[in-house]
Amino acid sequence: MGTTATIQIGDKTIDCPVIVGTENEVGIDIQVLRDKTGAVTFDPGYGNTGACESAVTFLDGEQGILRYRGYPIEQLAGPASFLEVSWLLLKGELPNAAELAAFDAAEKAHRELPDYAVAVIKALPKNVHPMAALASVLVALTTSEDSPKAVEAGLAKNELTLLAQLPTLAAYIYRHSQGLDFVGPDAGLSYAANYLNMMFKGTKLATTDEAIAKALDLLFILHADHEQNCSTSTVRLVGSAQAGLSASLAAGVTALWGPLHGGANQAVIEMLDEVVAHQNGDVGWAVAQAKDKNSNFRLMGFGHRVYKNFDPRAKLIKVQADLVLGKLGKDDKQLALAKGLEQAALQDEYFIQRKLYPNVDFYSGIIYRALGFPPEMFTVLFAIGRLPGWMSHWNEHNAGKARIGRPRQIYTGKNARDFVAVDKR
Ligand code: SDX
Repeated sequence: MGTTATIQIGDKTIDCPVIVGTENEVGIDIQVLRDKTGAVTFDPGYGNTGACESAVTFLDGEQGILRYRGYPIEQLAGPASFLEVSWLLLKGELPNAAELAAFDAAEKAHRELPDYAVAVIKALPKNVHPMAALASVLVALTTSEDSPKAVEAGLAKNELTLLAQLPTLAAYIYRHSQGLDFVGPDAGLSYAANYLNMMFKGTKLATTDEAIAKALDLLFILHADHEQNCSTSTVRLVGSAQAGLSASLAAGVTALWGPLHGGANQAVIEMLDEVVAHQNGDVGWAVAQAKDKNSNFRLMGFGHRVYKNFDPRAKLIKVQADLVLGKLGKDDKQLALAKGLEQAALQDEYFIQRKLYPNVDFYSGIIYRALGFPPEMFTVLFAIGRLPGWMSHWNEHNAGKARIGRPRQIYTGKNARDFVAVDKR
Protein backbone atom coordinates (compact mmCIF):
# COMPACT_ATOMS: atom_id res chain seq x y z
CA MET A 1 0.00 0.00 0.00
CA GLY A 2 1.52 3.36 -0.98
CA THR A 3 1.87 6.17 1.53
CA THR A 4 -0.08 8.62 -0.63
CA ALA A 5 -3.19 8.60 -2.83
CA THR A 6 -3.17 10.76 -5.91
CA ILE A 7 -6.34 12.65 -6.75
CA GLN A 8 -6.59 14.31 -10.11
CA ILE A 9 -9.49 16.63 -10.79
CA GLY A 10 -9.52 18.93 -13.78
CA ASP A 11 -6.08 20.42 -14.17
CA LYS A 12 -5.23 19.83 -10.49
CA THR A 13 -3.42 16.83 -9.06
CA ILE A 14 -2.74 16.36 -5.37
CA ASP A 15 -1.11 13.62 -3.33
CA CYS A 16 -3.04 12.86 -0.14
CA PRO A 17 -1.40 11.02 2.76
CA VAL A 18 -2.67 7.48 3.41
CA ILE A 19 -3.20 6.58 7.07
CA VAL A 20 -3.24 2.95 8.26
CA GLY A 21 -4.80 1.87 11.56
CA THR A 22 -3.61 -0.81 13.96
CA GLU A 23 -5.95 -3.31 12.25
CA ASN A 24 -4.65 -2.26 8.81
CA GLU A 25 -7.72 -0.20 7.91
CA VAL A 26 -6.68 2.33 5.28
CA GLY A 27 -7.86 5.93 5.07
CA ILE A 28 -7.10 8.68 2.60
CA ASP A 29 -6.44 11.91 4.49
CA ILE A 30 -8.22 14.52 2.36
CA GLN A 31 -8.01 17.43 4.79
CA VAL A 32 -6.42 19.66 2.12
CA LEU A 33 -8.69 18.56 -0.73
CA ARG A 34 -10.95 21.62 -0.90
CA ASP A 35 -8.16 24.14 -0.33
CA LYS A 36 -6.05 22.56 -3.09
CA THR A 37 -8.74 21.62 -5.62
CA GLY A 38 -11.95 23.43 -4.65
CA ALA A 39 -13.72 20.06 -4.62
CA VAL A 40 -15.24 18.18 -1.67
CA THR A 41 -16.01 14.46 -1.40
CA PHE A 42 -19.65 13.35 -1.70
CA ASP A 43 -20.71 10.43 0.52
CA PRO A 44 -24.36 10.59 1.73
CA GLY A 45 -24.74 8.40 4.83
CA TYR A 46 -20.95 8.47 5.32
CA GLY A 47 -20.59 4.81 4.24
CA ASN A 48 -17.10 5.50 2.93
CA THR A 49 -16.04 8.31 5.25
CA GLY A 50 -13.87 8.05 8.35
CA ALA A 51 -14.82 10.90 10.69
CA CYS A 52 -12.03 10.29 13.21
CA GLU A 53 -9.36 7.96 14.49
CA SER A 54 -10.54 5.97 17.51
CA ALA A 55 -9.06 3.41 19.89
CA VAL A 56 -12.31 2.41 21.61
CA THR A 57 -13.86 -0.33 19.47
CA PHE A 58 -12.81 -2.30 16.39
CA LEU A 59 -15.31 -4.08 14.21
CA ASP A 60 -14.87 -5.97 10.97
CA GLY A 61 -18.18 -6.30 9.16
CA GLU A 62 -16.94 -8.89 6.70
CA GLN A 63 -15.50 -11.17 9.40
CA GLY A 64 -18.17 -10.50 12.03
CA ILE A 65 -15.54 -9.28 14.51
CA LEU A 66 -16.33 -6.91 17.42
CA ARG A 67 -13.70 -6.00 20.06
CA TYR A 68 -13.85 -3.47 22.90
CA ARG A 69 -10.34 -2.03 23.47
CA GLY A 70 -8.97 -5.18 21.78
CA TYR A 71 -11.00 -7.75 23.75
CA PRO A 72 -13.41 -9.88 21.62
CA ILE A 73 -16.96 -9.52 22.91
CA GLU A 74 -17.24 -13.32 22.95
CA GLN A 75 -14.64 -13.32 25.76
CA LEU A 76 -16.25 -10.44 27.67
CA ALA A 77 -19.89 -11.50 27.42
CA GLY A 78 -20.29 -13.83 30.36
CA PRO A 79 -17.06 -13.75 32.44
CA ALA A 80 -16.96 -9.95 32.70
CA SER A 81 -19.58 -7.70 34.29
CA PHE A 82 -21.11 -4.64 32.63
CA LEU A 83 -19.29 -2.44 35.16
CA GLU A 84 -15.95 -4.06 34.22
CA VAL A 85 -16.68 -3.48 30.53
CA SER A 86 -17.74 0.12 31.25
CA TRP A 87 -14.42 0.74 33.00
CA LEU A 88 -12.58 -0.94 30.10
CA LEU A 89 -14.28 1.30 27.53
CA LEU A 90 -13.82 4.47 29.58
CA LYS A 91 -10.26 3.85 30.81
CA GLY A 92 -8.84 1.62 28.04
CA GLU A 93 -7.81 -1.24 30.35
CA LEU A 94 -9.67 -3.81 32.45
CA PRO A 95 -9.80 -2.81 36.14
CA ASN A 96 -7.77 -4.78 38.68
CA ALA A 97 -9.58 -6.20 41.70
CA ALA A 98 -9.06 -3.08 43.85
CA GLU A 99 -10.13 -0.72 41.07
CA LEU A 100 -13.24 -2.80 40.35
CA ALA A 101 -14.17 -2.93 44.04
CA ALA A 102 -13.83 0.86 44.38
CA PHE A 103 -15.76 1.43 41.14
CA ASP A 104 -18.51 -0.95 42.25
CA ALA A 105 -18.82 0.80 45.63
CA ALA A 106 -18.81 4.25 44.06
CA GLU A 107 -21.43 3.27 41.47
CA LYS A 108 -23.69 1.95 44.23
CA ALA A 109 -23.22 5.21 46.17
CA HIS A 110 -24.30 7.40 43.23
CA ARG A 111 -27.53 5.72 42.10
CA GLU A 112 -29.97 8.24 43.64
CA LEU A 113 -31.42 10.87 41.34
CA PRO A 114 -31.36 14.51 42.48
CA ASP A 115 -34.76 15.76 43.70
CA TYR A 116 -35.15 18.12 40.73
CA ALA A 117 -34.83 15.19 38.31
CA VAL A 118 -37.49 13.22 40.19
CA ALA A 119 -39.75 16.30 40.04
CA VAL A 120 -39.24 16.59 36.27
CA ILE A 121 -40.17 12.93 35.77
CA LYS A 122 -43.34 13.33 37.85
CA ALA A 123 -44.29 16.39 35.79
CA LEU A 124 -44.13 14.48 32.51
CA PRO A 125 -47.32 13.15 30.88
CA LYS A 126 -47.71 9.44 31.62
CA ASN A 127 -48.02 8.60 27.94
CA VAL A 128 -44.81 10.27 26.76
CA HIS A 129 -42.49 7.80 25.03
CA PRO A 130 -39.79 6.65 27.49
CA MET A 131 -37.03 7.70 25.07
CA ALA A 132 -38.43 11.22 24.95
CA ALA A 133 -38.58 11.25 28.75
CA LEU A 134 -35.03 9.87 28.99
CA ALA A 135 -33.59 12.55 26.71
CA SER A 136 -35.52 15.30 28.49
CA VAL A 137 -34.29 14.46 31.98
CA LEU A 138 -30.80 13.38 30.91
CA VAL A 139 -30.05 16.79 29.44
CA ALA A 140 -30.89 18.30 32.85
CA LEU A 141 -28.63 15.87 34.75
CA THR A 142 -25.59 18.10 34.89
CA THR A 143 -23.15 17.64 37.75
CA SER A 144 -20.96 20.32 39.27
CA GLU A 145 -18.01 18.86 41.16
CA ASP A 146 -16.19 15.54 41.60
CA SER A 147 -17.16 13.77 44.81
CA PRO A 148 -14.31 12.09 46.75
CA LYS A 149 -15.83 8.66 46.00
CA ALA A 150 -15.95 9.44 42.29
CA VAL A 151 -12.34 10.60 42.23
CA GLU A 152 -11.39 7.53 44.33
CA ALA A 153 -13.10 5.35 41.72
CA GLY A 154 -10.89 6.93 39.11
CA LEU A 155 -13.71 8.32 37.01
CA ALA A 156 -14.91 11.86 36.68
CA LYS A 157 -18.07 12.35 38.68
CA ASN A 158 -20.28 13.04 35.69
CA GLU A 159 -19.28 9.75 34.01
CA LEU A 160 -19.76 7.75 37.20
CA THR A 161 -22.93 9.56 38.23
CA LEU A 162 -24.57 9.16 34.84
CA LEU A 163 -23.64 5.48 34.68
CA ALA A 164 -25.10 4.97 38.16
CA GLN A 165 -28.18 7.14 37.69
CA LEU A 166 -29.36 6.07 34.23
CA PRO A 167 -31.02 2.82 35.44
CA THR A 168 -32.73 4.80 38.22
CA LEU A 169 -33.92 7.36 35.69
CA ALA A 170 -35.16 4.62 33.34
CA ALA A 171 -36.99 2.79 36.13
CA TYR A 172 -38.66 5.97 37.47
CA ILE A 173 -39.80 6.92 33.96
CA TYR A 174 -41.37 3.47 33.57
CA ARG A 175 -43.04 3.48 37.01
CA HIS A 176 -44.37 7.00 36.44
CA SER A 177 -45.93 5.82 33.16
CA GLN A 178 -47.61 2.93 35.02
CA GLY A 179 -48.84 5.10 37.91
CA LEU A 180 -46.62 3.15 40.34
CA ASP A 181 -44.68 4.54 43.32
CA PHE A 182 -40.95 4.80 42.73
CA VAL A 183 -38.71 2.07 44.17
CA GLY A 184 -35.39 3.58 45.20
CA PRO A 185 -31.99 2.05 44.32
CA ASP A 186 -30.72 -0.76 46.54
CA ALA A 187 -26.95 -0.70 47.15
CA GLY A 188 -27.12 -4.35 48.15
CA LEU A 189 -27.93 -5.40 44.59
CA SER A 190 -25.77 -5.70 41.47
CA TYR A 191 -26.17 -3.19 38.64
CA ALA A 192 -28.71 -5.22 36.64
CA ALA A 193 -30.47 -6.75 39.68
CA ASN A 194 -30.93 -3.24 41.12
CA TYR A 195 -32.44 -2.04 37.84
CA LEU A 196 -34.87 -4.99 37.70
CA ASN A 197 -35.80 -4.35 41.33
CA MET A 198 -36.51 -0.65 40.73
CA MET A 199 -38.53 -1.55 37.64
CA PHE A 200 -40.71 -4.38 38.90
CA LYS A 201 -40.63 -4.60 42.74
CA GLY A 202 -44.17 -4.97 44.05
CA THR A 203 -45.55 -6.12 40.70
CA LYS A 204 -46.16 -9.63 39.31
CA LEU A 205 -43.01 -9.12 37.20
CA ALA A 206 -40.73 -8.80 40.25
CA THR A 207 -37.77 -11.16 40.17
CA THR A 208 -34.73 -11.76 42.37
CA ASP A 209 -33.36 -14.47 40.07
CA GLU A 210 -29.63 -13.79 39.69
CA ALA A 211 -29.54 -15.70 36.39
CA ILE A 212 -32.06 -13.26 34.92
CA ALA A 213 -30.03 -10.31 36.20
CA LYS A 214 -26.87 -11.85 34.73
CA ALA A 215 -28.61 -12.24 31.35
CA LEU A 216 -29.60 -8.56 31.41
CA ASP A 217 -26.05 -7.58 32.44
CA LEU A 218 -24.75 -9.54 29.45
CA LEU A 219 -27.17 -7.75 27.14
CA PHE A 220 -25.88 -4.41 28.46
CA ILE A 221 -22.34 -5.58 27.61
CA LEU A 222 -23.35 -6.52 24.06
CA HIS A 223 -24.82 -3.03 23.54
CA ALA A 224 -21.96 -1.13 25.21
CA ASP A 225 -20.28 0.24 22.10
CA HIS A 226 -20.22 -0.08 18.34
CA GLU A 227 -17.73 2.49 17.00
CA GLN A 228 -19.12 5.27 14.78
CA ASN A 229 -22.80 4.28 14.61
CA CYS A 230 -25.45 6.97 14.16
CA SER A 231 -25.97 7.80 17.84
CA THR A 232 -22.28 7.66 18.79
CA SER A 233 -21.37 9.91 15.88
CA THR A 234 -24.12 12.25 17.09
CA VAL A 235 -22.62 12.33 20.59
CA ARG A 236 -19.18 13.10 19.11
CA LEU A 237 -20.57 15.79 16.80
CA VAL A 238 -22.55 17.56 19.56
CA GLY A 239 -19.55 17.21 21.88
CA SER A 240 -17.29 18.76 19.24
CA ALA A 241 -19.15 22.04 19.75
CA GLN A 242 -18.01 21.81 23.42
CA ALA A 243 -21.59 21.10 24.53
CA GLY A 244 -21.59 19.34 27.92
CA LEU A 245 -21.57 15.57 28.41
CA SER A 246 -25.25 15.31 29.44
CA ALA A 247 -26.36 17.44 26.48
CA SER A 248 -24.31 15.35 24.05
CA LEU A 249 -25.69 12.11 25.53
CA ALA A 250 -29.27 13.38 25.27
CA ALA A 251 -28.64 13.95 21.55
CA GLY A 252 -27.36 10.39 21.32
CA VAL A 253 -30.54 9.13 22.99
CA THR A 254 -32.74 10.86 20.42
CA ALA A 255 -30.66 9.49 17.53
CA LEU A 256 -30.80 5.98 18.99
CA TRP A 257 -34.62 6.21 19.20
CA GLY A 258 -34.97 6.03 15.41
CA PRO A 259 -36.46 2.70 14.19
CA LEU A 260 -33.60 2.30 11.71
CA HIS A 261 -31.17 2.40 14.66
CA GLY A 262 -31.78 1.43 18.30
CA GLY A 263 -35.54 1.79 17.92
CA ALA A 264 -35.41 -1.35 15.77
CA ASN A 265 -35.69 -3.62 18.83
CA GLN A 266 -39.16 -2.20 19.49
CA ALA A 267 -39.98 -2.36 15.76
CA VAL A 268 -38.93 -6.03 15.60
CA ILE A 269 -41.44 -7.05 18.28
CA GLU A 270 -44.17 -4.96 16.64
CA MET A 271 -43.35 -6.67 13.32
CA LEU A 272 -43.43 -10.16 14.89
CA ASP A 273 -46.69 -9.36 16.69
CA GLU A 274 -48.22 -8.23 13.40
CA VAL A 275 -47.19 -11.44 11.61
CA VAL A 276 -48.39 -13.65 14.48
CA ALA A 277 -51.68 -11.78 14.96
CA HIS A 278 -52.69 -11.05 11.38
CA GLN A 279 -50.80 -13.56 9.24
CA ASN A 280 -50.94 -16.56 11.57
CA GLY A 281 -47.15 -16.44 11.89
CA ASP A 282 -46.70 -16.99 8.15
CA VAL A 283 -42.93 -16.77 7.54
CA GLY A 284 -43.39 -16.85 3.76
CA TRP A 285 -45.75 -13.87 3.88
CA ALA A 286 -43.27 -11.83 5.93
CA VAL A 287 -40.30 -12.65 3.69
CA ALA A 288 -42.32 -11.83 0.56
CA GLN A 289 -43.43 -8.51 2.04
CA ALA A 290 -39.86 -7.64 3.05
CA LYS A 291 -38.73 -8.17 -0.54
CA ASP A 292 -41.63 -6.30 -2.11
CA LYS A 293 -40.49 -2.78 -2.93
CA ASN A 294 -44.12 -1.67 -3.02
CA SER A 295 -44.73 -2.69 0.58
CA ASN A 296 -43.37 -0.57 3.41
CA PHE A 297 -42.79 -3.78 5.40
CA ARG A 298 -39.12 -4.28 6.32
CA LEU A 299 -37.66 -7.26 8.13
CA MET A 300 -36.76 -5.16 11.16
CA GLY A 301 -33.71 -6.43 13.00
CA PHE A 302 -32.20 -7.54 9.70
CA GLY A 303 -29.43 -5.83 7.75
CA HIS A 304 -26.60 -3.59 8.84
CA ARG A 305 -24.47 -0.84 7.33
CA VAL A 306 -21.26 -2.53 8.44
CA TYR A 307 -21.94 -6.22 9.05
CA LYS A 308 -22.08 -7.98 5.70
CA ASN A 309 -21.80 -11.25 7.56
CA PHE A 310 -23.40 -12.27 10.87
CA ASP A 311 -23.57 -9.67 13.66
CA PRO A 312 -21.63 -11.46 16.43
CA ARG A 313 -23.93 -9.91 19.02
CA ALA A 314 -27.03 -11.43 17.41
CA LYS A 315 -25.53 -14.91 17.75
CA LEU A 316 -24.86 -14.39 21.47
CA ILE A 317 -28.27 -12.80 22.11
CA LYS A 318 -30.02 -15.68 20.34
CA VAL A 319 -28.39 -18.10 22.81
CA GLN A 320 -29.55 -15.88 25.70
CA ALA A 321 -33.09 -15.85 24.29
CA ASP A 322 -33.24 -19.64 24.47
CA LEU A 323 -31.76 -19.61 28.00
CA VAL A 324 -34.03 -16.90 29.41
CA LEU A 325 -37.24 -18.16 27.83
CA GLY A 326 -36.35 -21.70 28.88
CA LYS A 327 -35.78 -20.52 32.46
CA LEU A 328 -39.04 -18.60 32.48
CA GLY A 329 -40.81 -21.60 30.98
CA LYS A 330 -42.17 -19.44 28.18
CA ASP A 331 -43.09 -20.92 24.85
CA ASP A 332 -42.76 -17.72 22.84
CA LYS A 333 -44.50 -17.72 19.45
CA GLN A 334 -42.44 -14.66 18.50
CA LEU A 335 -39.14 -16.51 19.18
CA ALA A 336 -40.23 -19.43 17.02
CA LEU A 337 -41.29 -17.01 14.27
CA ALA A 338 -38.01 -15.08 14.54
CA LYS A 339 -36.01 -18.28 14.13
CA GLY A 340 -38.18 -19.25 11.16
CA LEU A 341 -37.66 -15.85 9.58
CA GLU A 342 -33.91 -16.09 10.09
CA GLN A 343 -33.77 -19.51 8.46
CA ALA A 344 -35.98 -18.47 5.53
CA ALA A 345 -34.16 -15.20 4.92
CA LEU A 346 -30.70 -16.75 5.07
CA GLN A 347 -31.71 -19.10 2.26
CA ASP A 348 -33.38 -16.43 0.14
CA GLU A 349 -31.47 -14.87 -2.77
CA TYR A 350 -32.78 -11.37 -1.99
CA PHE A 351 -31.19 -11.42 1.47
CA ILE A 352 -28.12 -13.38 0.41
CA GLN A 353 -27.34 -11.02 -2.46
CA ARG A 354 -27.75 -7.97 -0.20
CA LYS A 355 -25.83 -9.65 2.66
CA LEU A 356 -28.68 -9.08 5.11
CA TYR A 357 -28.30 -10.95 8.40
CA PRO A 358 -29.94 -10.63 11.82
CA ASN A 359 -28.45 -7.71 13.76
CA VAL A 360 -28.25 -6.92 17.47
CA ASP A 361 -31.92 -5.91 17.58
CA PHE A 362 -33.42 -9.05 16.08
CA TYR A 363 -33.57 -11.23 19.21
CA SER A 364 -33.03 -8.74 22.05
CA GLY A 365 -36.65 -7.57 22.15
CA ILE A 366 -37.86 -11.15 22.61
CA ILE A 367 -35.83 -11.41 25.81
CA TYR A 368 -36.90 -7.99 27.06
CA ARG A 369 -40.54 -8.83 26.51
CA ALA A 370 -40.17 -12.20 28.26
CA LEU A 371 -38.74 -10.29 31.26
CA GLY A 372 -41.84 -8.11 31.29
CA PHE A 373 -40.54 -4.91 29.69
CA PRO A 374 -43.08 -3.20 27.41
CA PRO A 375 -41.78 -2.66 23.83
CA GLU A 376 -41.50 1.12 24.29
CA MET A 377 -38.88 0.47 27.02
CA PHE A 378 -36.64 -1.69 24.77
CA THR A 379 -34.63 1.17 23.33
CA VAL A 380 -34.17 2.61 26.82
CA LEU A 381 -32.42 -0.68 27.68
CA PHE A 382 -30.25 -0.21 24.60
CA ALA A 383 -29.35 3.29 25.84
CA ILE A 384 -28.39 2.00 29.31
CA GLY A 385 -26.01 -0.46 27.64
CA ARG A 386 -24.63 2.11 25.18
CA LEU A 387 -23.92 4.80 27.76
CA PRO A 388 -20.28 3.84 28.50
CA GLY A 389 -19.54 3.68 24.78
CA TRP A 390 -21.04 7.10 24.15
CA MET A 391 -19.07 8.59 27.05
CA SER A 392 -15.82 6.95 25.89
CA HIS A 393 -16.19 8.47 22.45
CA TRP A 394 -17.17 11.87 23.86
CA ASN A 395 -14.02 11.82 26.02
CA GLU A 396 -11.86 10.68 23.10
CA HIS A 397 -13.16 13.39 20.81
CA ASN A 398 -12.63 16.10 23.40
CA ALA A 399 -9.25 14.81 24.57
CA GLY A 400 -7.67 15.59 21.24
CA LYS A 401 -7.46 18.91 19.44
CA ALA A 402 -11.01 18.28 18.20
CA ARG A 403 -12.28 20.73 15.64
CA ILE A 404 -16.01 21.37 15.61
CA GLY A 405 -17.67 18.91 13.24
CA ARG A 406 -19.04 20.71 10.19
CA PRO A 407 -19.52 18.71 6.94
CA ARG A 408 -19.77 20.47 3.57
CA GLN A 409 -22.48 19.96 0.89
CA ILE A 410 -23.16 20.16 -2.80
CA TYR A 411 -25.77 22.92 -3.30
CA THR A 412 -28.53 22.01 -5.78
CA GLY A 413 -30.95 24.87 -5.13
CA LYS A 414 -31.88 27.98 -7.08
CA ASN A 415 -29.15 30.19 -8.52
CA ALA A 416 -28.95 33.84 -7.43
CA ARG A 417 -32.16 35.83 -8.06
CA ASP A 418 -33.56 39.20 -6.91
CA PHE A 419 -36.32 39.71 -4.38
CA VAL A 420 -39.69 40.82 -5.78
CA ALA A 421 -42.15 42.67 -3.54
CA VAL A 422 -45.34 40.76 -2.84
CA ASP A 423 -47.51 43.12 -4.90
CA LYS A 424 -45.33 42.39 -7.95
CA ARG A 425 -45.32 38.52 -7.70
C1 SDX B 1 -28.42 -0.77 14.85
O1 SDX B 1 -24.43 1.26 12.89
C2 SDX B 1 -24.49 0.53 13.92
O2 SDX B 1 -23.50 0.02 14.42
C3 SDX B 1 -25.87 0.37 14.53
C4 SDX B 1 -26.02 -0.66 15.63
C5 SDX B 1 -25.29 -0.26 16.88
O3 SDX B 1 -24.93 -1.15 17.66
O4 SDX B 1 -25.17 0.96 17.12
O5 SDX B 1 -25.54 -1.92 15.18
C6 SDX B 1 -27.49 -0.82 16.02
O6 SDX B 1 -28.88 0.28 14.49
C7 SDX B 1 -28.69 -2.04 14.09
C8 SDX B 1 -29.62 -1.82 12.85
C9 SDX B 1 -31.07 -1.80 13.35
N1 SDX B 1 -32.00 -1.43 12.26
C10 SDX B 1 -32.83 -2.34 11.70
O7 SDX B 1 -32.86 -3.54 11.99
C11 SDX B 1 -33.79 -1.75 10.67
C12 SDX B 1 -33.90 -2.68 9.45
N2 SDX B 1 -32.61 -2.59 8.71
C13 SDX B 1 -32.52 -1.65 7.64
O8 SDX B 1 -33.36 -0.58 7.66
C14 SDX B 1 -31.09 -1.44 7.12
O9 SDX B 1 -30.56 -2.68 6.93
C15 SDX B 1 -30.16 -0.58 7.94
C16 SDX B 1 -30.74 0.73 8.29
C17 SDX B 1 -29.74 -1.29 9.18
C18 SDX B 1 -28.90 -0.35 7.08
O10 SDX B 1 -29.27 0.47 6.04
P1 SDX B 1 -28.28 0.78 4.81
O11 SDX B 1 -26.90 0.33 5.12
O12 SDX B 1 -28.49 2.20 4.43
O13 SDX B 1 -28.79 -0.20 3.71
P2 SDX B 1 -29.96 0.15 2.66
O14 SDX B 1 -31.18 0.65 3.39
O15 SDX B 1 -29.37 0.96 1.57
O16 SDX B 1 -30.32 -1.34 2.11
C19 SDX B 1 -29.57 -1.92 1.03
C20 SDX B 1 -30.56 -2.87 0.34
C21 SDX B 1 -31.82 -2.15 -0.13
O17 SDX B 1 -32.36 -2.91 -1.19
P3 SDX B 1 -32.01 -2.40 -2.77
O18 SDX B 1 -32.35 -0.94 -2.83
O19 SDX B 1 -30.53 -2.69 -2.95
O20 SDX B 1 -32.89 -3.29 -3.62
O21 SDX B 1 -31.01 -3.86 1.27
C22 SDX B 1 -32.42 -3.73 1.48
C23 SDX B 1 -32.79 -2.33 1.01
O22 SDX B 1 -34.14 -2.29 0.60
N3 SDX B 1 -32.66 -3.90 2.91
C24 SDX B 1 -33.71 -4.55 3.45
C25 SDX B 1 -33.51 -4.50 4.83
N4 SDX B 1 -32.38 -3.83 5.11
C26 SDX B 1 -31.85 -3.45 3.91
N5 SDX B 1 -34.78 -5.16 2.85
C27 SDX B 1 -35.67 -5.73 3.72
N6 SDX B 1 -35.55 -5.73 5.07
C28 SDX B 1 -34.49 -5.12 5.66
N7 SDX B 1 -34.36 -5.11 6.98
